[in-house]
Amino acid sequence: MTQGDQTRPADTASVTTVRLQNIAQSYGASAALMAAVEVGLFTAISQGAGTYDEIAAALSIHPTNAERLMVMLCATGLLEKTGDRHANAPDVERFLVAGKPGYMGPWITFTKPQWNEWGRLGEHIRATDLKVMGAIETFTVADARRYHNATYAIGMGAGRRFARQVDLRGRARIMDIGGGSGAYCIAAAKEHAGLRAVVLDLPAVCEVAREFIAANGVADRVEAQACNFVRDPFPTDCDVAIMASNLPMYSRETIAAVIRKAHDALLAGGEMHLIGETTNDSRTGPWGPAYWGLGQAVNDSLGLAHSEADVIGYFRAAGFASVAAHEFIPGALSRITGTRAA
Ligand SMILES: C[S@@+](CC[C@H](N)C(=O)[O-])C[C@H]1O[C@@H](n2cnc3c(N)ncnc32)[C@H](O)[C@@H]1O
Repeated sequence: MTQGDQTRPADTASVTTVRLQNIAQSYGASAALMAAVEVGLFTAISQGAGTYDEIAAALSIHPTNAERLMVMLCATGLLEKTGDRHANAPDVERFLVAGKPGYMGPWITFTKPQWNEWGRLGEHIRATDLKVMGAIETFTVADARRYHNATYAIGMGAGRRFARQVDLRGRARIMDIGGGSGAYCIAAAKEHAGLRAVVLDLPAVCEVAREFIAANGVADRVEAQACNFVRDPFPTDCDVAIMASNLPMYSRETIAAVIRKAHDALLAGGEMHLIGETTNDSRTGPWGPAYWGLGQAVNDSLGLAHSEADVIGYFRAAGFASVAAHEFIPGALSRITGTRAA
């Protein structure tokens, strides 16, 4: 289901139940997308299978299942049909064909382990015993490996975008707060030969980050250090702090405290970049940040969607100067920056 399909009818005379039904059943669109990735349907289409029968043969599935899955994928705009042949929509062809450089299949199924809990959202919404930290606190190395195979699939693109957008020439050492796979540090270290970096994350995640760092050949300059950013101190020899894609996981008080701690730990003249899933200032969207914020209810944590103005406020309250918001990935992530006074 595209968000356009869910647009509110313009006038009351044309009000029907269709939008409400489609939203109620839009988990079917999620399931179709995830299943198509799992069975390799988009890859088969890219390799030339175009009809229901060709897809059924290529994937060894029943033709009826090929047909009903492909009808739904057309309805969601993921496939485009001409005559009886199907083609991938441009974003599908770019990001969901296995073996292509931009492939992000693992990210598409990233949230699948929460599937059943979303079905219990009404119960979670009634919960009153909310925790500072969600399920991530008890992650095993196996959990972290699955999770970060997915974040790495999308994080390296974001990390490269960051390294292109931000002038890191002359900077010495980055701390990446909740750095996960290390994607941002890896991309920055590859771009700048003298730059060093430390990924700060939970112990199980650090084990996995070290594997990505080594696989990218930057282990001589990028390390991973166990650090619970809610409780533990930060290194005091860094002139850049990055915090990416963990904003909705925590409450306003916690995020403000982490940003203050980062400010106080940075070297004079250092800079912080928070790349976050921010809502607009009236908190009416966009869809992605609203989704990630609501998803914290499934964890019974205190996390929620923060607005861009919220984050700017945390930076200013922490003492950062030259605080500004920049577009990073429109509709998904913005980048808020500040500088520690020299
Ligand atoms: C969605 S991932 C983003 C990873 C990385 N920043 C990126 O953009 O690719 C969120 C990360 O925040 C980390 N994280 C969450 N809470 C944390 C905490 N209290 N201390 C350290 N790391 C934490 C998670 O372990 C995870 O690696």
